[in-house]
Amino acid sequence: MEKFPKDFIWGVGSASYQVEGAWNEDGKGENIWDRYCHSPESKVFEHQNADVTIDEYHRFEEDMDWLKELRCNAYRFSISWARILPAGTGAVNPKGIAYYNKLIDGLLARGIQPMVTLYHWDLPVALQDKGGWANREIVDWFAEYARVCFENFGDRVPYWITLNEPTVFTFSGHLLGAVPPCIQSFEQGLYSAHHAMVAHGTVVRLFRKMGLKGKIGFAFDIVPKLPYTDAEEDKKAARLANATTQYFFYEGVTKGQYPKEAIDFYESKGVKLPLQDGDMELVTEKCDFFGLNYYLTQAVRYKKGCGLFDCEYVFRENFPVANAVEWEIDPEGLYDVLKDVQKATNNEVPIIITENGICQDDYCENGEYNDDERLGYIRAHIDMIQKAYSEGVKMAGYVCWCGFDNFEWNNGTNKRFGLIHVDFETQKRTMKKSGKWYREFISKNS
Ligand code: BG6
Repeated sequence: MEKFPKDFIWGVGSASYQVEGAWNEDGKGENIWDRYCHSPESKVFEHQNADVTIDEYHRFEEDMDWLKELRCNAYRFSISWARILPAGTGAVNPKGIAYYNKLIDGLLARGIQPMVTLYHWDLPVALQDKGGWANREIVDWFAEYARVCFENFGDRVPYWITLNEPTVFTFSGHLLGAVPPCIQSFEQGLYSAHHAMVAHGTVVRLFRKMGLKGKIGFAFDIVPKLPYTDAEEDKKAARLANATTQYFFYEGVTKGQYPKEAIDFYESKGVKLPLQDGDMELVTEKCDFFGLNYYLTQAVRYKKGCGLFDCEYVFRENFPVANAVEWEIDPEGLYDVLKDVQKATNNEVPIIITENGICQDDYCENGEYNDDERLGYIRAHIDMIQKAYSEGVKMAGYVCWCGFDNFEWNNGTNKRFGLIHVDFETQKRTMKKSGKWYREFISKNS
């Protein structure tokens, strides 16, 4: 198999709400995850919050040393919108700017490329109170915020990601109500999804206009839903489940059209796509890379009246299931997705795996965190990337999710994805077996 090129990105990722803590310090505004976690309606494990989490806001120097220790050449992190613009728009918080400047400069000084996500789900509450992603004005709000980031950090950041996993903050947040802003509305589900894509394209266009020298893309999650059997009704169910989740965005950017099944579904609920002239040109605005978050595949079976889409998820016989989460592990599924993206993009844009990893309840033996399941998972997925790369798929990098154990959204600190263990009481960091393996792997491959 072809060796990975010397400049291949080997990184780990994080998101502001999951790692920073300091939720109300140095002028930061409140965001929708702060508000949700502090409210009685929160569905987070044990009603936890990320007020402190792994305290990266205060411990970033130490954490950057850990990243260096991991031999990563890239660190993917997100900017907290409310730390930069506490009210979402308007006044800029100089202390927020100063924090990210220190982080970016510290990474560069250690030979680690910053890969910055503009939006990883933590919308300022001031904007949510005006309708958030369901309000078309979000396009201008997001562009204003992005401009501030580009002006302040654009001279040094080589990789920008506009949105992380739009499926989660639009459909899960506005249609299913599973995550903030916890709304259940067909209209808001579709509106927020389309506005997110228009906002994404607007910001890519702005980036070009400002003449910045870095690269820009998105981070889409793709969880292929495969029909459980060959029966037509299972195939149709799988198609609808894909069309109304991740493939909505994937086909939007690659085909310039959202899936017909999704549009028909919303029309059957009386909701029309709020399309304006020029929108699809924005949605398909050319990016420099295709950021792909890949974790698993799922099988879908038709079942009348089950959920919103008349289908249920079924476990398949031959797939190992991750111990700590109900995920069927499917590295070949990643290979298939890579081939599919290659085809959909005419192999013109390089793919960066912007997230891949697994939750494992680590156990400690003589001070060592032996997470063999995670190690095996990561190795098997990197093997598939290498296979695809050897067959000509343009690949530019791999970002493992994630560097440090952190606040796992509704799972709180109950689920761990890190290569580095964090004791949430003492904040002590310890490299796990998977981290040691990743370090050695990177050394041999760069
Ligand atoms: C992705 C997110 O969905 O997967 C990350 O971008 C998240 O922020 C990771 O931590 C693992 O998540 P989950 O929610 O599936 O346990």
